[in-house]
Amino acid sequence: MTKRVGILTAGGDAPGLNAVIRGFGKTAIWHYGMQLIGFLDGIKGLVENRTIDLNGNALSGILTTGGTILGTSRDKVHKYVRDGQAVDMVPTIVENYHSDGLDALVMLGGGGTAKNAKRLSDAGLNVITLPKTIDNDIAGTDTSFGFATAVEIATDAIDRLHSTAHSHHRIILAELMGHRAGWLTLAAGLAGGADVILIPEIPYSVEAVAAKVHERMERGSTFSVIAVAEGARDQNDKADYDAARLLVDKAGSSEARRAARAHLANVEDSQREHTFKLARDLETTTGLESRVTILGYVQRGGAPCSTDRLLATRLGATAADLVMEEVFGVLVAARGDGAEAVPLSQVAGKLKTVPLDHDWVQTARKIGVGLGD
Ligand code: F6P
Repeated sequence: MTKRVGILTAGGDAPGLNAVIRGFGKTAIWHYGMQLIGFLDGIKGLVENRTIDLNGNALSGILTTGGTILGTSRDKVHKYVRDGQAVDMVPTIVENYHSDGLDALVMLGGGGTAKNAKRLSDAGLNVITLPKTIDNDIAGTDTSFGFATAVEIATDAIDRLHSTAHSHHRIILAELMGHRAGWLTLAAGLAGGADVILIPEIPYSVEAVAAKVHERMERGSTFSVIAVAEGARDQNDKADYDAARLLVDKAGSSEARRAARAHLANVEDSQREHTFKLARDLETTTGLESRVTILGYVQRGGAPCSTDRLLATRLGATAADLVMEEVFGVLVAARGDGAEAVPLSQVAGKLKTVPLDHDWVQTARKIGVGLGD
């Protein structure tokens, strides 16, 4: 019997989403003879049952395009915000899945999507997820599509910042994305030759960063380029942040959880400008003029690089194999040159951060890059 499959993209967009839709779709439709529909705008479209037909020509010309042809959103299936209220939409989604005659649902997303997918899988749906994020923070997979492209973009930016920092004898701090993980900043910082790299996993002190800048000045380098992860914190801020997070994790009642979340949001808000604060502190300590460049959404936009196109295409094709074999409740993880099905229970709710003994960390230390500790 012909299998009918739904596909969606959820969470923040990342380069390579369209390449996965294409890789999955071509394999599913042309190789296995399945039918494919797309849900628009992520979980929102799944709840509202807004779909498009992806058979025919819809998959042509999208390998190289940025963003997602399906649109995306950051909703949660069990706490879907409608008219200001958080509603459990899992039953509605289950109903839509059956009324659309689906045999499987393929979800492209990051950590949040893995949690959504696990809930749908627990509710009896045949779900497969694929690892999307520029942050590279999804547990269970070697890497995620979008990451390699973001590293390219951020490396190019760091390269460019070098010549202007050098010309003006300035410190330039480049703030990179990555949420609570330092993969993107560490990779691009190393590839771009940053003098200091600050990541969430290693809380920094202004004194240690300033010492590295001074060390360079003594050697005749009157400029420094610093790659700062958006989630990096100085040691004091980190202690406040961790305490606020612990309150959220430990909160028993929903009332306590609401209060703890509000407190965490306040702490996050007060730390939002941390890169500018560090720049001011360094200017005072070192006497060098300091400037900040926030790379922001540039890191997520535009065409995927060739590494991501290849990864996206082969993971997409493997996902179609898994639908055919009826292997569900899994993430299609990148493993070396191949792919592996990892149960969602080993992925959902877990964050892959940079281990302190990781080779990239050790390499940075060996070549004299300051890590702020
Ligand atoms: O997870 C991807 C990511 O780009 C993070 O690096 C960043 O913190 C976040 O998304 C930004 O999210 P939003 O698109 O909701 O502003």
